[in-house]
Amino acid sequence: MPSYRKLIIQQLTGDFRTSTGVAEESLRDPGPGEALVRNRYAGCNAIFDKNLCRNKIRYVDVVPPYDMGIESVGEIVALGSNTSGYAVGDAVATVNLGTGYRQFQTANVGRLVKVRAASAETLAIVPSGVSAYVGLHHIAQMATGETIAVSAAAGGIGHFVVQLAKLAGSHVVGITGSTNKIAFLQQLGCDRVIDYRNEDLPQVLAHEYPRGLDIAYDTVGGEVFDAFLDNLAQRGRLIISGHTSDFDQPIEHVPHPRAYRKLYWKSASIRAFQNQAFPEYQAAATQHMLQLYYDGKIKSQVDPTDFVGLESVADAVEYMLAGKNAGKVVIKID
Ligand SMILES: NC(=O)c1ccc[n+]([C@@H]2O[C@H](COP(=O)([O-])OP(=O)(O)OC[C@H]3O[C@@H](n4cnc5c(N)ncnc54)[C@H](OP(=O)(O)O)[C@@H]3O)[C@@H](O)[C@H]2O)c1
Repeated sequence: MPSYRKLIIQQLTGDFRTSTGVAEESLRDPGPGEALVRNRYAGCNAIFDKNLCRNKIRYVDVVPPYDMGIESVGEIVALGSNTSGYAVGDAVATVNLGTGYRQFQTANVGRLVKVRAASAETLAIVPSGVSAYVGLHHIAQMATGETIAVSAAAGGIGHFVVQLAKLAGSHVVGITGSTNKIAFLQQLGCDRVIDYRNEDLPQVLAHEYPRGLDIAYDTVGGEVFDAFLDNLAQRGRLIISGHTSDFDQPIEHVPHPRAYRKLYWKSASIRAFQNQAFPEYQAAATQHMLQLYYDGKIKSQVDPTDFVGLESVADAVEYMLAGKNAGKVVIKID
């Protein structure tokens, strides 16, 4: 049987580049209910990937050699028995731990999402667009015409949050830490863009939004989270969807009033969510997001920097960890 290449954790150094390497594996024929998929693009999840190399993902115990990568898009190249409804050549996306950063994967057809094209843009929808959708619609229970702030608004998840919020008729406040992303956020439809490195975020929110934020969708954490928590509206919802700014830092102990002092009288809430904890929403959210994209109602922004081949995944991870990306970071699998 011919072999293919995949990225694995070879040793746990805590750093992505020095933990990972390329390994070869024999291709195997798909069994009953399985498809062999040629991966074309893989999505970069730098924070998750680095945390794996630190063995700090709470629901995974990493023992090297460990397969890397989560989401990918590609085409079916072979099918096993009992796979009616699928054909060789079908474009499919998958979201499954350990299947992204590799040239081929064998997947149960129940794990495949049929898409119109195996493109980087389609890949960005699944699962970053889905995280935005689930977070806003199911966790935050977004209503029409609310005031919604989102951090890392130009990011893989953030740019979908902005667009979904605009579709719901919201006033959208896009937060970034990079001046060069302001124009992109304005084009996306943000009503106000705040560059928190050049403006005082708590002060701007307090002065320009005295009624407060109905929804604050946060993936950054730290002082951005604090500013959101202090500026929630009556019945406001603060969504924790990550904490990029300090995920690999020692836990900071901050002297603040207890959370109920800030929430109770407003009947506001903090709601954390990780997609894997809400499997019941994934299938429908994926179809909604794909349809919005096919209908031209949302754009899928892929960061324009080229990352080609498994050897470039470490570059992609470091690029994201440096906060340089606008849109989803995607690796072309050669
Ligand atoms: N809830 C879920 O189910 C779920 C699923 C996937 C990922 N996540 C989490 O969601 C977050 C966003 O993921 P993503 O893939 O869409 O990433 P991303 O937002 O595209 O990239 C990270 C962005 O965070 C901002 N940032 C703020 N502080 C930073 C710092 N100290 N270092 C680097 N960047 C910083 C940067 O944007 P600015 O230049 O604008 O500051 C950077 O571009 C991550 O924390 C991830 O772990 C959650």
